[in-house]
Amino acid sequence: MLRTKIAGIGMYVPEQVVSNDDLKKYMDTNDAWIQERTGIKERRYAKRTGETTTTMGVEAAKKAMERAGTTAQDIDFIIFATLSPDYYFPGCGVLVQRALKMKEIGALDVRNQCSGFIYALSVGDQFIKSGMYKNILVIGSEKHSFGLDFSTRGRNVSVIFGDGAGAVVLQPAENDKQGILSTHLHSDGESAELLAMYNPGTHANYWTEKQLADFDDAEIANMFMSHNMIDNAQNFPFMDGPSVFKKAVVKMPEVIMEALAANQLTPADINMLIPHQANLRISQFVQNQLGLRDDQVHNNIQQYGNTTAASIPIALCEAWEKGKIKEGDLVCLASFGSGFTWGSALLRW
Ligand code: UT7
Repeated sequence: MLRTKIAGIGMYVPEQVVSNDDLKKYMDTNDAWIQERTGIKERRYAKRTGETTTTMGVEAAKKAMERAGTTAQDIDFIIFATLSPDYYFPGCGVLVQRALKMKEIGALDVRNQCSGFIYALSVGDQFIKSGMYKNILVIGSEKHSFGLDFSTRGRNVSVIFGDGAGAVVLQPAENDKQGILSTHLHSDGESAELLAMYNPGTHANYWTEKQLADFDDAEIANMFMSHNMIDNAQNFPFMDGPSVFKKAVVKMPEVIMEALAANQLTPADINMLIPHQANLRISQFVQNQLGLRDDQVHNNIQQYGNTTAASIPIALCEAWEKGKIKEGDLVCLASFGSGFTWGSALLRW
């Protein structure tokens, strides 16, 4: 059976390190609260101008392509996962195609937030297995620092997120012992509003019917954004943290067990688990549930915070660079986040 392998992996994080204490400049928070509740010590922020979700993705992609022994001209499909794109539209995929002077290949953007990389990997896996493409570039990248509420009002969300990018090049594996064994994707839209950025959006529920009655037709037609929306901080992400936490600690172990069962494997067979880096407490809970030792799990949220679609490829790249993942190892990726969406991937490195 034709399998898909990760032929090369790369990561990029911006230079600027932002400690928990640095955030005290903007909001009422403290290092003890952040470390105790999330495990985060610091995160990286991209330059305000000149460094975007796409440029960071491009840097990670260059590393991944170099390690895969491919050039930008060899790539025949791009999949880009992010919730913080350079533009509302078009997506970042085409901007990567332009920046790397690639051929006129297809470019797909994936909007599955924390599960974005696993969804993107799964899509790429199907294209390789079907024989349609030979070299697929999959990128997860986020510039969260551009769109957070840096006031005490937004502290439960803002202290968690950081910027960065990770990328992989997918290719057909040489044999069926190596590569992606399976991917498992899920969603439950019932809780879509519990972790979301509502605006700007076509639901436009930041006006009541009564408020709309005060506007004429031309004003209503022009209502993409409003002062009202900005004044009420409705242009920032919202998260009901405790509800997300409760669901994550159930669904992540469940989807990991689903992947293991599908391959007749058990938690003891895992050499390295790379959980989405949402909260160190969630990762530790998942580790305990599965009975994994510390050397079977890689976490780096302490240094980078939650980088959403980038967190898994960054952690995977770092674990590999540190020599924690070797050829033949069983690697498991797992995520949970906004949507809700969650997923897992099991691969033989
Ligand atoms: O990657 C996407 C998926 N996201 C997740 O998986 C996130 C899951 N949720 C979480 O990680 C946690 O719920 C948080 C870290 C977001 C919050 O931790 P928590 O233990 O659930 O805290 P909480 O929201 O229940 O807030 C507890 C208290 C509140 O004060 P009161 O009402 O008890 O007086 C908050 O106002 O902590 C306060 N608080 C803060 N204090 C200092 C909230 N944020 C902060 C802060 N600094 N940054």
